[in-house]
Amino acid sequence: MKEFDKVLISKEDIEIKVKEISKKISADYKGLNPLFVCILKGSVFFTADLLRNVDTPAQIDFMVVSSYGSGTTSSGTLNIKKDLAVDIKDKHVIIVEDIIDSGNTLALLKEMLLKRNPSSVKICTLLDKPDRRVRDVKVDYCGFQIPDEFVVGYGLDYDENYRTLPDIRVLSREVYEK
Ligand code: IMP
Ligand code: MG
Repeated sequence: MKEFDKVLISKEDIEIKVKEISKKISADYKGLNPLFVCILKGSVFFTADLLRNVDTPAQIDFMVVSSYGSGTTSSGTLNIKKDLAVDIKDKHVIIVEDIIDSGNTLALLKEMLLKRNPSSVKICTLLDKPDRRVRDVKVDYCGFQIPDEFVVGYGLDYDENYRTLPDIRVLSREVYEK
């Protein structure tokens, strides 16, 4: 069985793009000591590579969240499996996500974090599937816009597999339709 249709984004292209985003964020947040919120597990490699290249002082924390519901209602529910360890009041927060699909997770998460009175909350995502968006969410930093295909690698999983691949690949339909 063929596991992958193709490599969508190479290791080299990821590296170049991540450095570009790091540079932008470093300039935008100079002297602000931002807090990067890594959304586990998918954005673990992205966050690490991004922060290695951010050259202004910064902090890091982690969350585990997911969204469910919203088939018929427009709201959806945020499920927080692990919350932040630090208080974000008066902090400049940058949420780091692997991929925005429907937009539900990030829209709900941003709404929730804003209630904690941070100085600002911005969103940084490696991948964006704009065709699948059901909820408006402002993406402040984006690596790549991709077509509506299921991708894995560089942190992204299918059923907890493939996260450790160095590049981003389109998963073959045979894998999830079997
Ligand atoms: P949203 O709430 O629909 O935007 O959900 C985004 C979440 O769905 C991401 O954090 C991923 O965990 C998951 N997801 C969406 N598309 C993909 C994909 O192509 N590959 C792997 N995970 C995905
Ligand atoms: Mg996932």
